[in-house]
Amino acid sequence: MLRNNPGSSSGSRFEFIKRLNVDNGGMNAGIAVVRDRKNGKLCIEKRLDPDCIRTRLADMEIEALQQLDHPNVNRIIDVFVDYNLLQGSIFLEMCDGGSLDKLIGRHSVDGRSIGESQIWRWFIQLAKAVAYCHCGPSLNDREARSLWNAVYHRDIKPANVFLSRIENGTQDGEVILKLGDFGCAISACLIENGVVDPRFASRYTPEFAPPEAPLLNKKSDVYQVGGVMACLCRLKQTWQHFDKDQAAGEEYSSKLNMAIRYCMKSNYQERIGAAALVKRLEKERREDVIESMAENVVESVIESEIEDGVKSNEVEWVTVTMMEDAIEHSVADVVEISC
Ligand SMILES: Nc1ncnc2c1ncn2[C@@H]1O[C@H](COP(=O)(O)OP(=O)(O)OP(=O)(O)O)[C@@H](O)[C@H]1O
Ligand SMILES: [Mg+2]
Repeated sequence: MLRNNPGSSSGSRFEFIKRLNVDNGGMNAGIAVVRDRKNGKLCIEKRLDPDCIRTRLADMEIEALQQLDHPNVNRIIDVFVDYNLLQGSIFLEMCDGGSLDKLIGRHSVDGRSIGESQIWRWFIQLAKAVAYCHCGPSLNDREARSLWNAVYHRDIKPANVFLSRIENGTQDGEVILKLGDFGCAISACLIENGVVDPRFASRYTPEFAPPEAPLLNKKSDVYQVGGVMACLCRLKQTWQHFDKDQAAGEEYSSKLNMAIRYCMKSNYQERIGAAALVKRLEKERREDVIESMAENVVESVIESEIEDGVKSNEVEWVTVTMMEDAIEHSVADVVEISC
């Protein structure tokens, strides 16, 4: 049975409650619910796989988590590693809503589709998580972006995206999305300094691999964001090569289908970047809210946003992707990672 290591400082901080998974996962030696004695809160203990400790793969997950602090990223609370005994654990904030693949499973059994507004909210939250990992907290500040140690997740899929109720928040009961499982993550700094050979981190999930795999880059994460959204719309736990023009399906709006299409462009150079995706999605949502207001208000706002009424939604996606590419190249942080 998975227990806390009584010899570790973290072991005395956390009280074992129950084991979560029956089998160990791909990159863990057991998952348990534990209680933080400091504040009584329930957390997740992810026991590290001894092989990952030995090869220092676990260090990459730990370092990525320690760098990241964002409402849509699963936060690390504590960590301990004993490199001699090859034992260690990461302690994470618990996401009480479980993973998206479990949610998809439940909806699929009941035959209940997920509402489009909810899909948009989670789309924006996942895009924000990825944009933060790639660009840092200041998406509009080029200099700050260029100083940020970009983190590439490389394994975004429904099983690695979690849901959590906002604690002490003003929006009671709202369920927010958190990107988790940074077990395949790699950072630009580690690659540039030659500290890690990226080929060691080749554990991405083949079913969710973008067309450029095994050569991954920052836009590979965006492809997987689109894949997760398509899975949510289609109620499928794995990406099943849905028609990319209608990845969400006819049940959902053409706007949503187009947004997913721009994430999943086969040629990554045509694919939108994460920061531009956030801006673009937020704009789409603003327009939707506006559209649901009184008709006379709608017309004037939409008219001013759509120049001369000729700029189609499609053209705007292309423009935004090209603008983002210009910025991306100017900060020279496109990294090709071989796996
Ligand atoms: N923060 C969390 N809150 C709730 N459950 C979590 C959390 N982190 C992990 N889990 C649970 O533990 C499982 C495995 O976690 P994770 O994906 O981080 O590890 P893994 O090594 O990739 O394992 P697997 O191969 O099973 O995905 C998740 O699918 C989920 O059920
Ligand atoms: Mg996982």
